[in-house]
Amino acid sequence: MPPQPAVTPGAPDRERTAPDRERTAERLLASSAKLSFNPLKDVDWDADPVPGAYYCPPRHLSLYGTDLWERMTEGERIELSKHEVASIASVGIWFEEILMQMLLRHAFDRDPTSNHVQYALTEIADECRHSIMFARMIEKMGAPAYGAGFVAHNLGRLFKAISTHSQTFGGTMYVEEILDAFQREMMNDDTLQPLTRQVSRIHVIEEARHISYAREELVRKRLGFLQRRWEQLFLGVVVYFATTALIHPRVYAAVGLDPKVGKAVARANPHWRSTKIEMAQKVIGVLDRAGLVGAANRWLLRAAGVIA
Ligand SMILES: [Fe+2]
Ligand SMILES: [Fe+2]
Repeated sequence: MPPQPAVTPGAPDRERTAPDRERTAERLLASSAKLSFNPLKDVDWDADPVPGAYYCPPRHLSLYGTDLWERMTEGERIELSKHEVASIASVGIWFEEILMQMLLRHAFDRDPTSNHVQYALTEIADECRHSIMFARMIEKMGAPAYGAGFVAHNLGRLFKAISTHSQTFGGTMYVEEILDAFQREMMNDDTLQPLTRQVSRIHVIEEARHISYAREELVRKRLGFLQRRWEQLFLGVVVYFATTALIHPRVYAAVGLDPKVGKAVARANPHWRSTKIEMAQKVIGVLDRAGLVGAANRWLLRAAGVIA
């Protein structure tokens, strides 16, 4: 009889027979050993910003295409791009800190000699470096760390402590995929600031592994009828708050606009809505295939502006 993988007593029994899980983690560990970054050394932090260059594609900005946008100068539009990137990066840090705790909880009950747990620990180390990288980018841009806002910040406090398996990996997939869609375009656009391009490239490469890990965990879980409805609802709340927190209203004050006016104009902006739908399209499909989109959360996904 082949040797069975060692599992700590607290781990669910079905994990005793999960060779595919070990194979995936083995592949991800090998890929991490081959290509990982140290952002403190691998980003050129001393380079000055390029005059006249946007920090992200203007078409992805929350006010793009509105009358307010038409009245802004080119300098104000570029400044807004810097503050929206800073806001999204600070929400990235908020979620990465949540994720690090959820992954530690995932590892805590499992065998540390398994590839699966060793990859969870590797991912925590990646996220730790990413959060430092985002924080340094925000500081370098001279923008504040806007954060996710009072309500989302404190819901995050609860979420990172009590999330179930599907919520941990469903929420992770969601945030990682929307950031991936945003940053993949940024890293390939050579008209943008080199700083945001370099940060995006490092993040996209390392996140691709995290996304495979989360996707496999998500589909591995079997859910009953009632539990599925509950997971859908809870995940809908995560999607709603993570998406609506992306652009902090104070970014508008940085370009001389009233934050309340900016927020209202962005909310009604069809371009911004279609940007969010475009960024979330792939991950909503994955969540749907995992049975995590349904009547219990479609209204929340619609309110977040990520489905039509
Ligand atoms: Fe990350
Ligand atoms: Fe990640």
